[in-house]
Amino acid sequence: MSGRLAERIAVVTGASSGIGAAVCRALAREGARVALAARREEALRSVEEGLEGTKSVAVPTDVTDREQVERLVRRAEDELGPVDALVNCAGVMYYTLMRNLRTEEWERTVEVNCKGVLNCVGAVLGGMVERGRGHIVTISSDAGRKVFPGLAVYSASKFFVEGLSQGLRLETAGTGIKVTTVQPGNVDTGLLGMSSDREALERYGKPSGARVLDPEDVAASVVHALTQPEHVAVNEILVEPRDEPV
Ligand SMILES: NC(=O)c1ccc[n+]([C@@H]2O[C@H](COP(=O)([O-])OP(=O)(O)OC[C@H]3O[C@@H](n4cnc5c(N)ncnc54)[C@H](OP(=O)(O)O)[C@@H]3O)[C@@H](O)[C@H]2O)c1
Repeated sequence: MSGRLAERIAVVTGASSGIGAAVCRALAREGARVALAARREEALRSVEEGLEGTKSVAVPTDVTDREQVERLVRRAEDELGPVDALVNCAGVMYYTLMRNLRTEEWERTVEVNCKGVLNCVGAVLGGMVERGRGHIVTISSDAGRKVFPGLAVYSASKFFVEGLSQGLRLETAGTGIKVTTVQPGNVDTGLLGMSSDREALERYGKPSGARVLDPEDVAASVVHALTQPEHVAVNEILVEPRDEPV
C-alpha cells in the first residue's frame, strides 16, 4: 500500500458520519489502516465499505463506556497492529439557552465530548508511551477558542478538550508523542439537527448564509497534521468558513 500514511494504524471515533467518516476515507486514501468506531453499526459498515484498498475493522463502540473503548483498541491492535494515531471525532452539540435548563443535554455533552475523549486517550496512551510514538488528534471546535451564546455547555466541553490536549502535550514532550486539536467552524454535517431548543436555535442557530466547510476540508487538516516530519508538531489548526471568522 502506498501513500503518506502507508502501514500506519489509526483509530477513528465518530466514524459513522460527518467529519469522522471523511477522516476515515482520507486516511485510507493515504494508505493507513483504519479502525472505525461509533454506535450505529449499519452506518459504520457502509462507511467501511467505501474505503478502498486498505485494511480496516469496524467496531461498534459507545465512547462513554470505558470497557467498550478498551475493547475497540484491543480489536484494532489484534486485527491491524499497534495504534499509531487516535482521531477523536465522536461528539454531540445542542443549541440551548442555559436558563432553559436542558440538564440531560448538558450531561450528554459532558459524557460524550469530555469523558468520551478521556476514555479514548486512556485506552491508547500507555501503548504509545511504551512504543515511543503516537499521535492523538481531537476534533475540537472554534468554540474551544471562543464561547458562542446558545452553546455555553458545548463551548465549555471544547475548552475542556483544549485544556486536556495542552496538558497532555506538555507532559508527553520528549516521548515521541504528538497532540493536535483541530478547531473547525461550521461544517456541513448533521450535527445541528440534534438541537431541539427552538428559542436557542431561533436566536443563535440560524445559518449566516456563508458557504460552510465540507467534512473533507476538516479531514484534510487531520491528514496535514499526521503527515508532518517526525520533529514537526502541528498543535492546533483553526479551520473556518472564509466568511465566518471568529
Ligand atoms: N459540524 C460542525 O459544524 C462542527 C464544527 C466544529 C466541531 N465539530 C465537531 O466535529 C465532531 C464530529 O461531528 P460532525 O459534525 O461530524 O457530526 P455528526 O455527523 O453528527 O458526527 C458525530 C459522530 O459522533 C458519533 N457519536 C455520538 N455519540 C457517540 C457515542 N456516545 N459513542 C460513539 N460515537 C458517538 C456519531 O456516531 P453514532 O451516532 O453512530 O454513535 C457520529 O459518528 C464533533 O466532535 C463536533 O463537536 C463539528
